[in-house]
Amino acid sequence: MKYGYFDDQAREYVITRPDTPLPWINYIGCQSYFGILSATGGGYSYYKDARLRRLTRGRYNNVPADFGGRYVYVRDNASGDYWSPSWMPTQTTLEDYSCRHGMGYSTISSKRAGIRTSTRYFVPLDETLEIWQVTVTNERLEAADISLFSSVEFCLWDAQDDATNFQRNLSTGQVEVDDGVIYHKTEYRERRNHFAYFSCSEELDGFDTQREDFLGAWRGWDKPVAVEEGRSRNSIAHGWSPIGSQHVKLRLEPGESRQIVYVLGYHENDKDDKFDPPNSQTLNKKTVAPIIAKYRDIANVESAFDALRAHWDQLLGVYQVTSPDQHADRMVNIWNAYQCMATFNMSRSASSFESGIGRGLGFRDSNQDLLGFVHMVPSRARERILDIAATQLSSGGAYHQYQPLTKKGNNDIGGDFNDDPHWLIVGVAAYLKETGDFSILDAPVMFDCLPGTEEPLYEHLKRSIQYAQDRIGPHGLPLIGRADWNDCLNLNCFSDTPGESFQTSTSKDGKVAESVFIAGLMVLSARELSDIAAVSGKAEDASYYAKLSADMSATICEHGWDGDWFLRAYDDNGNKIGSKENDEGKIYIESQGFCALAGVGLEDGKARKALDSVAKHLATPHGIVLQQPAYSRYYIEYGEISTYPPGYKENAGIFCHNNPWVIIGEVMQGNGDAAFDYYSRICPSAREGISDVHRLEPYVYAQMIAGRDAPSHGEAKNSWLTGTAAWNYYAITQWIYGIRPEYSGLRVAPVVPERWTDFKVNRVFRGVSYDISVTRKGAGNAVTLTVDGTVIEGDIVPPPVNGVQSVKVEAVLG
Ligand code: GLC
Ligand code: GLC
Repeated sequence: MKYGYFDDQAREYVITRPDTPLPWINYIGCQSYFGILSATGGGYSYYKDARLRRLTRGRYNNVPADFGGRYVYVRDNASGDYWSPSWMPTQTTLEDYSCRHGMGYSTISSKRAGIRTSTRYFVPLDETLEIWQVTVTNERLEAADISLFSSVEFCLWDAQDDATNFQRNLSTGQVEVDDGVIYHKTEYRERRNHFAYFSCSEELDGFDTQREDFLGAWRGWDKPVAVEEGRSRNSIAHGWSPIGSQHVKLRLEPGESRQIVYVLGYHENDKDDKFDPPNSQTLNKKTVAPIIAKYRDIANVESAFDALRAHWDQLLGVYQVTSPDQHADRMVNIWNAYQCMATFNMSRSASSFESGIGRGLGFRDSNQDLLGFVHMVPSRARERILDIAATQLSSGGAYHQYQPLTKKGNNDIGGDFNDDPHWLIVGVAAYLKETGDFSILDAPVMFDCLPGTEEPLYEHLKRSIQYAQDRIGPHGLPLIGRADWNDCLNLNCFSDTPGESFQTSTSKDGKVAESVFIAGLMVLSARELSDIAAVSGKAEDASYYAKLSADMSATICEHGWDGDWFLRAYDDNGNKIGSKENDEGKIYIESQGFCALAGVGLEDGKARKALDSVAKHLATPHGIVLQQPAYSRYYIEYGEISTYPPGYKENAGIFCHNNPWVIIGEVMQGNGDAAFDYYSRICPSAREGISDVHRLEPYVYAQMIAGRDAPSHGEAKNSWLTGTAAWNYYAITQWIYGIRPEYSGLRVAPVVPERWTDFKVNRVFRGVSYDISVTRKGAGNAVTLTVDGTVIEGDIVPPPVNGVQSVKVEAVLG
């Protein structure tokens, strides 16, 4: 069953009924001002940091779900009938409802009683504001007398405090209303120099800024008294709950359309120029006035929207494919790339499943996210790498998270997740291959954000490996620390205290529990560092890290092999995890996928065997589960993994993030059919037809799909902000299609299904546009490349001579 359809031409997903199984959201904003926007007008906005600079409120875990939003009410002044054209919050019956989620904008349209309303929401590039462009059309045969009431509920900036500290916050709210613009200025009189504003392109018939005056006592957003009576109260909030609502009356002739533009924005004033006049307490509005004036003019709104579209044309234009599979095409060309930009911008902070008040940017998450966006925004990737690296500790270890606003490591979480440092190397290698910008390795970067501690980025990479070398366990494998990629495999925690964090409490010295996953990751990271050293002329380092990689690979084969698959870990007692010897959790995906991907056991058949075991024990029609059998009880020595009921999350859920490791592993075995089959099982678009089972957005990946042990096998959770986005994008674009940046050029080495006779890719790489067409002549994966008419040796297209902007590559497979 479906709740909409893909409009690939427009690059939109069109939701055709508002009561999707769960809120289906989109994001607006792509630089510093962001918002979550659901198909029913729900969601909130923030500037840079979802916790510390929240503009509007969201209500967590509310019923109905998805409450708090950008609501416009339409009132028919003749009949008194009123409704929400976005369905929520009044839930009044609508005709012709649709929500078009596009690239950085959404348009919600509907009709009731002959009045059509269509609202396009977006954030212009380079602005810290959002626009709601409302078009109201009278499709009746007679004139209509209509009222529009807008509404937002302001958050008092720190979303955590706002949701908890009522004894203070119910007394601090402050606003100003001037020339029809509502200014939210809570705490501006003291230490803040920023405020929010909410303006409207029309003359107002009234406004409200105090929630209770607008809604009425004992009423909710579904029936505000001001809307019901068609009359704003012109209230000025003092404490309690500041809101913004504007009342506009429109008389529309038959067939007449009108556009009304609302702007909700964030603005900062100079600390020394906060007030006007200077010694008053009145907000200085001079610096924001030109911005407000600009978007009162619809022509400026339209050109801002065109610029946003052009921005996405450019980003998505970097990689475009035409293949025999429409699902893969629309994911790669549109939605998966778009999701990668969302994870770049939001990391794991704000979604329907992340409150925006918890996590900042994750060290390992952000590095992995790079794999999915580095080709679209290389200069911002560079900045991101340097920010992440600056939080690294001098030991080579890492803070697990850092706050985007302060860019400082998060002390509440701390470090000692022993996989973290390796991901920095993986991220930097991806950046270097994409851009060829080796100057980044010389950039001076602090440790622990402490000025004076700067060392070249290259030194940071070496410390990442050193950190692992300083933490090797009894079998010669890396010690796991608090956890590795699997945050819930907490082998040093041994928690028996309810509510204690499994990730940050440790009761063991950590000198025994080892991770085969980190070992596999280290095989890769040491090899990447070796390659980086080789290309930058550091021959000694190159051979040192190559040997380290090979040695670790040998150690895995010796102590990390269980006969038919790779072990997952050794626990604090030195017992195996992920072994035939275990009663539950006998086989895990991470070590199979990552070791295969890193090339461990590639030659002697171990990798093949491990992947066959994955197919046999872990693969389901909805994707590959994380481990089997699921843990049926709590294992104090394993930690959080065994706290989840069987089939959910890390306890044998389909953790989509690591399915692509198996996909890449199959590609390395030359098995295009298996790789693409696994790809399709979790591909959101391919699952659109079972939206009633999957339940989340069919245009983006979710972190998890319930595993076969769960009662709701196939049901997705935690959509949008997941490493799944980058890894799947990386797996399909670089490994299955095989168009892969290398230091010496662009590799073309597809491993696609045998039935595919041809496909085409357009790839912009280091400023050159590669027009690549692949045709199959035989069953295998051997490739012959013809570059601009000349057959070349090997599968790497070297950079063209200076000045050449486009290259034609013909690849013959077979
Ligand atoms: C979440 C975390 C990620 C972790 C994964 C597995 O996706 O963001 O860091 O690797 O869970 O536990
Ligand atoms: C990861 C896991 C999640 C766990 C969390 C703890 O995000 O996916 O299951 O609760 O880490 O921080």
